[in-house]
Amino acid sequence: MIAYTFISGATGGIGKAFSKECVKKGYNLFLTGRSQEKLERLKLELLKINNVEIDYFACDIASPDDRSKMLEYIDKKGYLFDRIINVAGVDIQKPFLEYTREKILFQTRVNVEATIDLTYALLNKRALGLEVLTISSMSGVSPMPNFALYSATKSLLTNLFTALHYELKKDKIKVTVVLPGGVYTREDIIEDIKGQGIWGKLSAKTPEFVARKSLKALSKNKVKYIPGFFNKLLNFLMKIAPKKLVLNFIEKRWRNNRKDAF
Ligand SMILES: NC(=O)c1ccc[n+]([C@@H]2O[C@H](COP(=O)([O-])OP(=O)(O)OC[C@H]3O[C@@H](n4cnc5c(N)ncnc54)[C@H](OP(=O)(O)O)[C@@H]3O)[C@@H](O)[C@H]2O)c1
Repeated sequence: MIAYTFISGATGGIGKAFSKECVKKGYNLFLTGRSQEKLERLKLELLKINNVEIDYFACDIASPDDRSKMLEYIDKKGYLFDRIINVAGVDIQKPFLEYTREKILFQTRVNVEATIDLTYALLNKRALGLEVLTISSMSGVSPMPNFALYSATKSLLTNLFTALHYELKKDKIKVTVVLPGGVYTREDIIEDIKGQGIWGKLSAKTPEFVARKSLKALSKNKVKYIPGFFNKLLNFLMKIAPKKLVLNFIEKRWRNNRKDAF
């Protein structure tokens, strides 16, 4: 029985980079994202790199019903997984009072509920030597006023997968959580990084860099991986800096940011 690498958010900037890196390594893939067309196109693109097994399932992971349908499909096919790569996430940036209830539920469901639900389900469909990698964010290192919910969802993922790293050691399951700073993916994110000037430039990495280095960290079973020296330094400084100062700075810095996700 062959085993698959599951990748959520495969159709996005970071997910696509992981998909390509995995295909180069000869891994068989099970991809997901919302758009059937994007997934089909991605599959064809990946097959040009390497002739591995690739299947996909279009699924709005914010919907428990959609997730159940995908899991039923996986069941029916009898797929087992030797790698779970959780990439899908939405980065809504706005003051909490400006959210709608719908958007709060959407962001929480995609970033947290779906990641936990799918990881749990696929852990129970594991092949020998399972590895689990989850994309969190540097935004989860400190609470972030005006970016509070995204930051909190990422902080939850960092804590959860750090705990699972230790919990699942005895089961010989590798677990790594990745905390990227800026990553050059969507147009709006590239603009944000440019707008941050030298700090953005120092922090940002390409999706290819993040994917390649993260997979290396996973194979070494590192508990946490922060891409790039500057982000590692920032992580350290955030730990030792006075909390009030950091939180007041972030509140002012993010006060005028408005970004939605659909
Ligand atoms: N880019 C950065 O600067 C950065 C930094 C730190 C962390 N991250 C994290 O990295 C991950 C990927 O970011 P990215 O920059 O690659 O974003 P992206 O290009 O917008 O990709 C997001 C991916 O998530 C999928 N997705 C979103 N909502 C979904 C839903 N309801 N159901 C199923 N799939 C859904 C999208 O699929 P569709 O094709 O259906 O839209 C897409 O494949 C996110 O978790 C993000 O928080 C990004």
